[in-house]
Formats: sequence, C-alpha cells, structure tokens
Amino acid sequence: MTPTATRPGIHHAGLLGGVDPEALAARFGTPFYAYDLDVVADQVASLREVLPPSFDLAYAAKANPLLAVLRHLASLGVRVDVASGGELRHVLRAGFDPGRVVFTGPGKRDEELDAAVGAGVGVVTVESRNELRRLAAIAAARGRVQPVLLRLSMSAAGGNERVRIIGDEGAGKFGMDLGELRAAAADAVALPSLEPLGVHAFGASNLLDAGLLAAHVEATVGTAAAVAREAGFELRLVDAGGGLGIPYRDEEPALDLEALGERLAAVGGRMAADPATATARVVVEPGRFLVGAAGAYVARVIDTKTVEGSRVAILDGGINHVLRPVLVGQEHRVVALTGAAAGRVTPGAPSVTVAGPLCTGLDILARAAPLDGLAAGDLVAVLDTGAYGATEAMPLFLSHAMPAEVVLRGGVPALARPRIEPETWLGWHLDDAGG
Ligand SMILES: Cc1ncc(COP(=O)(O)O)c(C=O)c1O
Repeated sequence: MTPTATRPGIHHAGLLGGVDPEALAARFGTPFYAYDLDVVADQVASLREVLPPSFDLAYAAKANPLLAVLRHLASLGVRVDVASGGELRHVLRAGFDPGRVVFTGPGKRDEELDAAVGAGVGVVTVESRNELRRLAAIAAARGRVQPVLLRLSMSAAGGNERVRIIGDEGAGKFGMDLGELRAAAADAVALPSLEPLGVHAFGASNLLDAGLLAAHVEATVGTAAAVAREAGFELRLVDAGGGLGIPYRDEEPALDLEALGERLAAVGGRMAADPATATARVVVEPGRFLVGAAGAYVARVIDTKTVEGSRVAILDGGINHVLRPVLVGQEHRVVALTGAAAGRVTPGAPSVTVAGPLCTGLDILARAAPLDGLAAGDLVAVLDTGAYGATEAMPLFLSHAMPAEVVLRGGVPALARPRIEPETWLGWHLDDAGG
C-alpha cells in the first residue's frame, strides 16, 4: 500500500499545489475547485514509463474538460478521447491535433459525426451498425475516408469473463455484441468511405487491479485480431478504454503501476510475436487516473452544531458541486486545511458529519470525517475531485454560485474559469414563456 503522505495529489501539509489555501480563497472566493497541473504531468509520466512501446496514451476529456487542463495535456503530447461534439470543440480549441482525437460514445448525432469528419478526427468509434451506415454516408458526402473502430459491448465480451462480469455496465447501451460487431466489420470493409482499424472496448471504471486491466487489454486484442482476420482488414488499432483506478480511501492500495507495466509488456510481447497483431498499436484512454488526484474542491465551514450527540458541519457547497459521493455511493476524503482540525487526527475523537447547504438529506459529503475541532470559518478540501468533479455535478440545484476553477503550476495559481453567479442563468429564463 502506498502511504497516503507519499501519494500523488494536490494536497500536502495544508497547502494546495504548494499554495496557502486562504490566499486562494481570498482571491477566488469559496467554494472553488483547484487542479495541480504538475500532478497531472507526473501522472502522465508515471503511466508512460510503464506502457510498452506499441501503446499510446489518450486522455478521456469527460473526466475534466476544463480548457486549461486540456491545454496542459495537449502540451504533453497525449492523444484525446471525446464523447460529444462539445468535447470535440473543447479539445480542438485546446490545441489537440484532430488526427490524435478518438471520438467514442453512444448517441452521436449526424451534426456531431459531420463535425468530426470535417475536422479530420483520427478515429471515430462506431457503436452500432446504424451509426456505421450514418457515418459512412456523412464521410462519403464530404469525400472523405474516415478511419473507424468498432466498439464491443462489454455485456458481450466472450472469452473475457473476469473483466466482463465487473465490466457489465450500461445494460447494452455501449457498443455491439460480437455477432453485430462481426457484421459491422464486414460492412466497414465494404464501404469505401470507411477504413476499419480495429476494435474498442471499455472494461470497467476505477479498477485498482493491474491483472484485471491487463487481462482486459489482452482479451480485447484477441477479439480484435479475430474480427479483423474474418473481415479481411489489417488490425492497426485496439482501444482498450480507460478505467485505471485511483484510491479514494486512505486504506485503499493504489494501482500497482510496476505490475501493470510487467503484464502489459507481456501482452505487447505476445502481440509482436503474432503476425495478426504485430503491427497493431494499443490505446489506453484513462481520465480519472490522469487528473483525479490533481484536484480538490475547497469549501468553507458555515456552521457547526451537535445534534443528538453527533457533530455536524455545514459547508458553503456540497453535492451541487461534488455529486460523485451520492451518485456512485463513494465518499471522498475530506480534510481540514485550516483551523484546529487541520493536520490532526486524534484517535478516538468524535467524528464529524460534513454536509453541504442544500435542502436535501442526500447532501452529505462525509458521514464520519476525522475532523474533531472543525469550526465555522475553517476551510476544508474534498480530495481526489479532479476527475468527474465539476463536470459531473448539478450546479443549478438551489441556485448557488458555480465554483470557480483554478489551476496551479509550479506553485502559481491562475483562474481557469470564473465563479458563475445564479444571475447568469436567471438571464436564460424568458419572462414571456407563460407559467
Ligand atoms: C469510452 C471511454 N473511454 C475512457 C473513459 C475514461 O474512464 P476513466 O476515467 O475511468 O479512466 C470513459 C469513461 O466513461 C469512457 O466511456
């Protein structure tokens, strides 16, 4: 297990990215999100170090589509995965080369496919035979040949039982079963406006088991090779999705990168030895692993009380900004940045329920945080919120301001997106709409 103190992350000894959190609060107001771009760079470097030479790294923009984060990742030379026309526009604005973009996701509208083909996106992953036909028509109308991956449904990833069982997410909404995928491969070979490259399969989210991750990659390569051979195209790309996990609790072991590297090296070796896979490249496209620990959501304690003997602290932000704890039932670590509870864990001391200001019992960020002494005015940080934090929230609920997003680099903070007051979205409402 990696000791918490040495784990990568934005928070060390009460500082965020090396900066006094009160200085950040004074400048940007609370609550706010902060992301340490140096941690992102470290995560990219540590993963690259263990990926075999035939593997490429892409960033799943959905984890954190903040322009400053995307720009940073573009500058690090990674590829990028987008899941909507909006994300495509973000990554192009951030400076990603269109040829390095993979566009994957269910329900792509014709306008989105057209924008992708028009931009010269490197790969579009098709999720159904209907989508394949729509894409072929769009590419033909533009006189383009669009490279495609065919997405395998994890409800149907035969031969990969261990990963399939935990990866059976989405009840069939993602990708095609093997029969449809084989038919789609034959379609793609026959359609002159499409160029089939290989197969895409996303295993499961937040996996901390290197063996499972590598087994998923190998199984996907195996399926892709069989499909390519049968359809008669050369396998050139296998996209194994993301899913590399990060620990959310102190006692959780981190993903063992060394073990992952060893297992992937073995996969890469077997691929090189087999003529059916020797020239194929593999893409892994993590989101959470690259940006999760780099981010913190910082809020101020507004009120504290004791209710039937239990300590409760109410913050100036909650699940309107950090929905993930209730969405997936997983609490994040909450630490005090200032005040008596900062940097102190007293064994046996009473724990504290940390809640937000929303009028719903769901708005609990931590049910038993070891934050004895937490008082009104203190700053707290919800850690590991760099991925699926701001972007997966429900900020309109109860009309609090949307938090500012701040990036830190070399200990220098910069505003990346300003705080947005509810007056902004009040302005979207039309007085003449009746009601
Ligand atoms: C197609 C695809 N790729 C990559 C990711 C990133 O996953 P993670 O952040 O768990 O690595 C997702 C997440 O939903 C996804 O759907």
